[in-house]
Amino acid sequence: MSALRGRTIVVGVTGGIAAYKAVEVCRRLVDLGAHVVPVMTDAAEQFIGRTTLSALCSEPVQTSLWDEVSPIPHTVLGQRADAIVVVPATAHLLGAYAAGLSTDLLTNTLLATRAPVVVCPAMHTEMWEHPAVRDNLAVLRQRGVIVVEPDEGRLAGGDVGSGRLAAPERIVAAIEAVLGSGDLADLHVVVTAGGTREPIDAVRVIANRSSGKQGYAIAAEALSRGATVTLISTVDLPTPTHARLVRVETAAQMQIAVEHESESGDVVVMAAAVADFRPRAVADHKIKKADGPPEIVLEPTPDILASLGARKRAGQTLVGFAAETDDLIAHAEAKMRRKNLDLIVANDVRAAGVGFQHDTNAVSLLRPDAPMVTIGLTDKRSIARAILDVVVDIRSGPK
Ligand code: PMT
Repeated sequence: MSALRGRTIVVGVTGGIAAYKAVEVCRRLVDLGAHVVPVMTDAAEQFIGRTTLSALCSEPVQTSLWDEVSPIPHTVLGQRADAIVVVPATAHLLGAYAAGLSTDLLTNTLLATRAPVVVCPAMHTEMWEHPAVRDNLAVLRQRGVIVVEPDEGRLAGGDVGSGRLAAPERIVAAIEAVLGSGDLADLHVVVTAGGTREPIDAVRVIANRSSGKQGYAIAAEALSRGATVTLISTVDLPTPTHARLVRVETAAQMQIAVEHESESGDVVVMAAAVADFRPRAVADHKIKKADGPPEIVLEPTPDILASLGARKRAGQTLVGFAAETDDLIAHAEAKMRRKNLDLIVANDVRAAGVGFQHDTNAVSLLRPDAPMVTIGLTDKRSIARAILDVVVDIRSGPK
C-alpha cells in the first residue's frame, strides 16, 4: 500500500512554464489515495487555470490569504498537511522561502507548518546555476527541506539544458519516501556538530576545521524521519526546522550538554570534532605579542563518547565518528571497541572531497558484529541517510 493513502498533501504551484505538469503530479497523488489540497500563486494562474487543478484535486484550489474559506487559511493548511510539495518551485519561491518571507498564501503556509516540505525546482539553466539560487537551495537543504533536482532536457523557448522539472514519478517517489520513512518516530536523537574551540587567552583559541555540515545533515535527516532532534553545535549554520539547538563552544561545555541530553536520548550521534587537548591554563587577558611566544601546556579534554559508552543505557544507540588520516579501518575499529559504540563512521579525511568542510563525504560504517558497509563519495545528506538506516537496523535487533 502506498505511504500516500489517506495522507493530506498540500501541493503548491508557482508561476513557471512547468506548472502544467503539477496537474499530472496531483492526479498521481490522488490515484495513490492522497487527499490533495492545491494552492496556487498569482503567477501560477498565468500558466494554468484554477478549474483544471480544482477538478483533479480533492478540494478546490486556494490562491489567496484573503479567500473566504477560513479566517487564517495558511495556518489551517500548514497544520493539516502531512507533507507540502512545491511543484514547480521557481527561483522566486526558493528565494522567498530561504529568506523566510511570507507574501502570499503559499509562502505563509510553508512557514506555518511542521510537515516535511519537498521542493521541485524548474527554471532556465542560467537561473538554475546562478549562485543565488544555489545558496538558497543550500540553506533550504540544511533546514531539512527535500529538493527534487531538476532533469536535463528541453526548456521553455526551445533551449536544452538542466532545469527541466523532474519527471512526475520522481516527484511522487520523493513524497512517498518522506512520508514512508517515519522509522525514527518517537525517538529522541541527539546529534553533535562542529569543532570545539579551546581558549588560550581572552581572544585566542585552539580550533579545528569542522564546519558542522555533516552533523547538521544528520539532524535534518533524523527530523525528516520523525525523530525529536537535539542538535548540540559549535557553529552557526541554519538550524534545521524543529531541531532544538544547544549552542556550545568548548569540549567541557559539549560534555555537559551531551550528558544532559543523552539522559533522554535514544540515539546519540557524535559527529562533532572534539578537541583532544586544551590549554591547562587560560589567560584572562590578551597575551601580549611583545612578551614573546607563550609556552602553552596542554592537558587532555574529557572523552565525551567514551564516558557515554561506559554507562550506556539498555536500548540506547551510540554512534561515533573516526576522522583518520591513515590506517582508517584499524583505528576506527579500535575506537569503536574502546568507546563501547554500536556504530562508528570512519572517514579518511585526507581523501579528496571527504570530511572537514566539504559538502560531500565518503565513509565506512563499522559495527561490532556485522559486516562493514562502505559508502562512496556523495553528499552529506545521503551519508546521513545511510548512517540512520544502519541505526534503524541496529535498533530492530538481531535478525
Ligand atoms: O563538520 P564537517 O566539516 O562536516 O566535517 C565532518 C567531520 C569530519 C568533522 C565528521 O565527519 C567527523 O569525522 N567527526 C568526528 C571527528 C573526530 O573528532 O574524530 P575523532 O576520531 O578524533 O573522535 C572519535 C569520536 O570520539 C568522535 O565521534 C568524537 O566526536 C568523539 N570524541 C573525541 C574526542 C573527545 N574528547 N570526545 C569525544 O567524544
